[in-house]
Amino acid sequence: MNTLDQFNFEGKKALVRVDFNVPLNAEFEITDDTRIKAATPTIKKILADGGSAILMSHLGRPKNGPEEKFSLKYLVSTLSERFGTEVKFAEDCVGEDAVSLAAGLQPGEVLLLNNLRFYKEETKGDEAFAEKLSKLGDVYVNDAFGTAHRAHASTTIVAKFFADKVCGYVMQAELDNAEKVLNNPQRPFTAIMGGAKVSDKILIIEKLLDKVDNLIIGGGMSYTFTKAKGGNIGNSLCENDKLELTKELEEKAKAKGVKLYLPSDTVIADDFNNEANRQTVGNQDIPDGWMGLDIGPDTRKQFSEIVESSKTVLWNGPMGVFEFPNYAKGTDTIAESVVKATENDGFSLIGGGDSASAINNLGYGEKVSYVSTGGGALLEYMEGKVLPGVAALEN
Ligand code: 3PG
Ligand code: MG
Repeated sequence: MNTLDQFNFEGKKALVRVDFNVPLNAEFEITDDTRIKAATPTIKKILADGGSAILMSHLGRPKNGPEEKFSLKYLVSTLSERFGTEVKFAEDCVGEDAVSLAAGLQPGEVLLLNNLRFYKEETKGDEAFAEKLSKLGDVYVNDAFGTAHRAHASTTIVAKFFADKVCGYVMQAELDNAEKVLNNPQRPFTAIMGGAKVSDKILIIEKLLDKVDNLIIGGGMSYTFTKAKGGNIGNSLCENDKLELTKELEEKAKAKGVKLYLPSDTVIADDFNNEANRQTVGNQDIPDGWMGLDIGPDTRKQFSEIVESSKTVLWNGPMGVFEFPNYAKGTDTIAESVVKATENDGFSLIGGGDSASAINNLGYGEKVSYVSTGGGALLEYMEGKVLPGVAALEN
């Protein structure tokens, strides 16, 4: 794969696929700019060489053509600030306007194209659409690790129309860090898996059982494990078709000498809201009408001791419904422990949208080794799947 540093962009127009699928609030303000911050060195390198950059991204999942709320125009001012240059904007990612704006771009200038997913051709991986996009630049750079698991027109198909294909800094760092954790971990190596569903994490858990010393399971998915062991989980989240599977995972862990930890206590509520009645009970003893929404204090203590004494930590998925302050303690505690492990010369990789926002919201983004910009993409990579966006850069 060609790296960014191997390439001189002088006089070139770089067509750069970025993942600027960032969260916006009701006022269209960016609430987490991790992905923009991460891609900035790539853009700056192109400009510093004397090149120009044409940026393309998706935002959200628009269904039927252009929709105001999915316009990338809301990013222009933030991007201009980050890149130190006034970013131009094309309302339509293909067509006359885009073509003439791209053609007129001078060295040092940046053009942002509007949401690629305003065209169904993007997600369909349409060749003609990819070819139109390709005409806008001379060199293709893919820095959209977060979308590298999609074989879309702009992430994959477009690459075949370029002689020069370059891997951006974000893409490179993501792959390097994932490799480091998978192939060269300092021990003990602890993985913390959370989030709502076991089904999302089966493949990664199976893969990790060959790698880790400790596997911590928290969050919504832990209740399926508890139920399978005969516990009462009340109205907690549960995937009833995955009960057998959780038993198999526990058996596999045992056979491979991996210590698998489940919560011992849980914070329960009688309704799914922050102000509901709450209490802490043993994980097996959740009464009917109540649901587990966070790990309890004993669990927090146990999990944090394990994490803090680890030399490699991989964290994916929250320990509870951390969007509600009353159920955020478990996730916050894990975040603090990951920071401590890092301060203790450990290596920490935070993957997945939710754990990344938890870390960033607490201001710990710089205190861990690496916060991944990928959710699904990182999981798929770690599961051992070939990411089409990466493969397209290799051919
Ligand atoms: C993400 O945020 O997960 C990526 O940008 C990919 O988006 P998608 O899941 O809508 O393809
Ligand atoms: Mg996604």
